[in-house]
Amino acid sequence: MDPGHDDALALLVALASLKVKGVTAVCGNQTVDKTARNARRVLDLAHYEEISVHQGADRPLFRPLVTAAHVHGSSGLDGYHFHLRDREKTIPADAQQWLECEFTQEPGDIAWIATGPLTNVAAFLMGHREFVPRIKKLTVMGGALNHGNITPYAEFNFYVDPDAAHWVLAQGIPIQLVGLDVTHKALLAPDALERFVSFGSEIGLMLHDLFAFYFKHEPNAVPQGVPVHDVLAVGAMVHPEFFAWRRVNLTVERCDEKYRGQMTVVSESARAATQVAVDVDVARFFEWMWAMLANGF
Ligand code: RIB
Ligand code: CA
Repeated sequence: MDPGHDDALALLVALASLKVKGVTAVCGNQTVDKTARNARRVLDLAHYEEISVHQGADRPLFRPLVTAAHVHGSSGLDGYHFHLRDREKTIPADAQQWLECEFTQEPGDIAWIATGPLTNVAAFLMGHREFVPRIKKLTVMGGALNHGNITPYAEFNFYVDPDAAHWVLAQGIPIQLVGLDVTHKALLAPDALERFVSFGSEIGLMLHDLFAFYFKHEPNAVPQGVPVHDVLAVGAMVHPEFFAWRRVNLTVERCDEKYRGQMTVVSESARAATQVAVDVDVARFFEWMWAMLANGF
């Protein structure tokens, strides 16, 4: 993940609905030192200090980094002042080392959610092909069948690292791809700000302040609400039935800079490993999201 406001909300919903084994931070919305620090801050404020955060890629596989400071601010989580002291500077194993240990020690299949550029995922699996069959489900927030957000053609995560996105999508891993086609339908309404405050917790105050900022800066915010992209990836992992899916083989543009990161359907097949979300039951999704947040925080 690359927290990022929607990543932060997605992390909280994941904590309330899944067993989160750990977090790897990746560059994207901000530089990876900031996204790692932001993930730790959210976990610590939520009293999940035991969940480790491992710093991953500080740049895409083969390109310079493009960040989204215009959306998430210079800290990556602008809007709220984190007053807790940051975790001691014990530097846990970096992402690649931690992932190898986890995959080696975890006997079962692995479920992985990626809510930023796919650089950490690609870098790890390129060096550890033996683990590919162990991935039962990889749920990715990324891509767009129709209109992009960072350019008219590309979604941000796929734009930042199109090489990683293309490679991961070509490995035959069972992927649920949650792109802008559904995240732009599920808009968090402005009354969410008061609902966050009604939690009566510091997490509620944090979410209020973060999303008061995000509503003003997310370019696709409209009076009806703001996209919370990454939270839908968590929703897809836990409740795939909230979504309509198409099984497709995809490619991602890496050569033509104008179309960089654009996702294209090569073919549609019942045997395709990748399922792309083409619709979402917005009411059921948000009913579940609010229930998880109220229950968890
Ligand atoms: O395009 C939306 C994606 O880019 C989300 O993951 C958001 O956090 C940014 O990383
Ligand atoms: Ca993200």
